[in-house]
Amino acid sequence: MAEMLAARLHIPSRELRMEKVPVPEPGPGQVRVEVRAAGVCLSDVHLADGTLTPLLLKGEVVTLGHEVAGVVDALGAGVTDWAAGDRVVLQAFDRDRHGVSQTRGVDYDGGYAQYTLATTRSLVPIPGSLSFEQACVIPDAVSTPWAAVTVTAATRPGDAVAVWGVGGLGTHAVQLLRLIGAAPVIAIDPLPAARERALRFGADDALDPADPGLPDTVRRLTGGLGLDVAFDFAGIGPVREQALSLLGKGGRLIVAGLAGEPLALPSDIALAYFGQSVRGHFGSHPEHVPQLVKLAVRGRLDLTASISDVLPLSQAPAALDRLARKEGDPIRLVLRP
Ligand SMILES: NC(=O)c1ccc[n+]([C@@H]2O[C@H](COP(=O)([O-])OP(=O)(O)OC[C@H]3O[C@@H](n4cnc5c(N)ncnc54)[C@H](O)[C@@H]3O)[C@@H](O)[C@H]2O)c1
Repeated sequence: MAEMLAARLHIPSRELRMEKVPVPEPGPGQVRVEVRAAGVCLSDVHLADGTLTPLLLKGEVVTLGHEVAGVVDALGAGVTDWAAGDRVVLQAFDRDRHGVSQTRGVDYDGGYAQYTLATTRSLVPIPGSLSFEQACVIPDAVSTPWAAVTVTAATRPGDAVAVWGVGGLGTHAVQLLRLIGAAPVIAIDPLPAARERALRFGADDALDPADPGLPDTVRRLTGGLGLDVAFDFAGIGPVREQALSLLGKGGRLIVAGLAGEPLALPSDIALAYFGQSVRGHFGSHPEHVPQLVKLAVRGRLDLTASISDVLPLSQAPAALDRLARKEGDPIRLVLRP
């Protein structure tokens, strides 16, 4: 049986091992995809450090990788509308035969491998003009902030917004908020390089969360009204309290970052009196990835600066380490089998 290289996370020990495993065979309604690019997300780091645990995984080992682009390689039974050689990006979520949504590279084997399986409904075609590296980060690094901005936050043009954590997800949140006309767009991150980058990606201002003058600055930038929307793309507990204290009337805090900690409200009175809310956000809807492919292909969304480095698949453990330590201030690192 043919074998391939895969980065497999052993859940009980949290060890990420490069292993030889059989090349998977597509079942009915599935295709096998030859992986060309797979993005490295902080959620992968969280899975490896134990902050996150797969809820629906069968067994104790999973191939990581929920941001995947590649080429259709083999067709399962009954697949007629795809052909070997088709360029595709894969939705980060899929439904099992009982209709339960599962996350690729978390609840079932993902794309840190030479080949991976996907149901045809999770395939999104990409034209030759969009590179595999840029395409692979759309599901999650771009689609999660897009869904958070447009659906969960229902951000409107002119809304005053701030993004905590301008890394892989937050940098794209800034870009997308600019695209839909939010103003001002304030980026907040302790890393100077991340703040400078956020300004290049379209933030009006970039602030250090440790700056004691931050609340006054946000008040001034929002004309004294406070924020309409605060986005947590950092996954750091104290961010939530800081963000909630800066919301205006009807303001909402969107929690997308995953810290694995309790959420504390600084004031229930402000929440009640000003009609504020806290909304959790996870993933994106099926239409978001094709929308973003279209925006990227039409030049409305520039993803050329989103890929900080491309590493061979064999360096998956080192790539996770680089993202965890922010070595080189990456937006997204991409693995290439
Ligand atoms: N909800 C979802 O669907 C979903 C999907 C993917 C990732 N995530 C989560 O989103 C978070 C971000 O993921 P990523 O891949 O963009 O991570 P990343 O490491 O690329 O970016 C995180 C950024 O947060 C910054 N940060 C740290 N402390 C901060 C603070 N106190 N205030 C403001 N910023 C701070 C870091 O400097 C970094 O720039 C993670 O917690 C990840 O698990 C959630």
